Amino acid sequence: MFFYRVGQFFKAITAKVTEDDIIFINNYLSHKEKELFFKLKVYDQKHCIDVAKDIKIYFQKNNIKNEDLSILKNDLIKAGLLHDIGKIKKNLNPIQKSILVILDKFSKGKLKNLDNIKAIDIYYNHDKEGYKLLKENNYSKEFLNLVKNHHNYDIDSVEINILRASDDKN
Ligand SMILES: [Fe+2]
Repeated sequence: MFFYRVGQFFKAITAKVTEDDIIFINNYLSHKEKELFFKLKVYDQKHCIDVAKDIKIYFQKNNIKNEDLSILKNDLIKAGLLHDIGKIKKNLNPIQKSILVILDKFSKGKLKNLDNIKAIDIYYNHDKEGYKLLKENNYSKEFLNLVKNHHNYDIDSVEINILRASDDKN
């Protein structure tokens, strides 16, 4: 766990969005969505790109078709790109994030009670913030629920499990 965290930390501070990533993003996001997406910190952008790319690879490897899902494959990839969009509200830098993760561990999850502190609030609530940001637009209910519930393990579906598996890997 410790080495995983250290790895995540270095990944975060060295993150870079490549030309290849931009081409990938252009395939899935509208102009308006890109405006939102690029408000994320670069390491959050990179995380979301990696999640979305892994979803695409999963589809290819498992020969998943649109009919196998309750939303279009491209929309699930788009959800990969936008699932953390709530983080644009208040971003933590990698150091703050590492501190929070450690504090949360020592407080055995009690940190959640302090959610009047804005940064902690977003750390725990970026899923709901993302949902609030996107719900004004014409997304399907399924799509919005993916964003809202991507950390809610009480909610279970084929689609959210694909998103989560990819999120956990990155
Ligand atoms: Fe998230």
